[in-house]
Amino acid sequence: MYAREKVAVQASFPNALSNYFLNIFFLFQYRVDCVLHAAAHKAVAESCRRPLQYYDNNVVGSFNLIRAMDELGIKKFVFSSSSTVYGTPLYLPMDEEHRAGNCTNPYGKTKFMVEEIVKDMCLQDKVKVFQLRIHHIFICFV
Ligand SMILES: NC(=O)c1ccc[n+]([C@@H]2O[C@H](COP(=O)([O-])OP(=O)(O)OC[C@H]3O[C@@H](n4cnc5c(N)ncnc54)[C@H](O)[C@@H]3O)[C@@H](O)[C@H]2O)c1
Repeated sequence: MYAREKVAVQASFPNALSNYFLNIFFLFQYRVDCVLHAAAHKAVAESCRRPLQYYDNNVVGSFNLIRAMDELGIKKFVFSSSSTVYGTPLYLPMDEEHRAGNCTNPYGKTKFMVEEIVKDMCLQDKVKVFQLRIHHIFICFV
């Protein structure tokens, strides 16, 4: 889908996401025009034990990435959210119309908060976003 787009890979720079200036550097250096954002802490139980760590990494980190994108005029954004944003299901099977935001743990709340930031950016035409509310994924790098 994004064969001709350039995607920044930051995995080899631990916590790079949290640093606004590093985000600016990478996005500018690689002339990025589309960001696929999958970096996060993601353990539900750990998020209950260490909520501040999760809000800092997942919310502040994403905020710094989005702020850097905005600064550089990068609009295309794919965000790995989570089905945890739905919270306790009101009905099954859940679909995309299911109400979100009734999260039962800090991890889910961090994902929902970033969705809300991105939604507000969309309303101002600052980003065009594709949000993935993932349930379980397995990704292989060959
Ligand atoms: N695996 C699942 O079942 C699942 C389900 C729902 C949502 N998700 C979401 O999908 C995304 C990818 O999941 P995954 O299973 O590949 O996770 P993963 O833990 O394998 O990979 C996440 C990567 O992000 C990196 N990272 C975390 N914080 C960072 C930071 N501040 N700066 C730079 N790098 C940072 C980690 O080092 C790790 O390499 C995550 O956003 C996760 O919340 C995953």
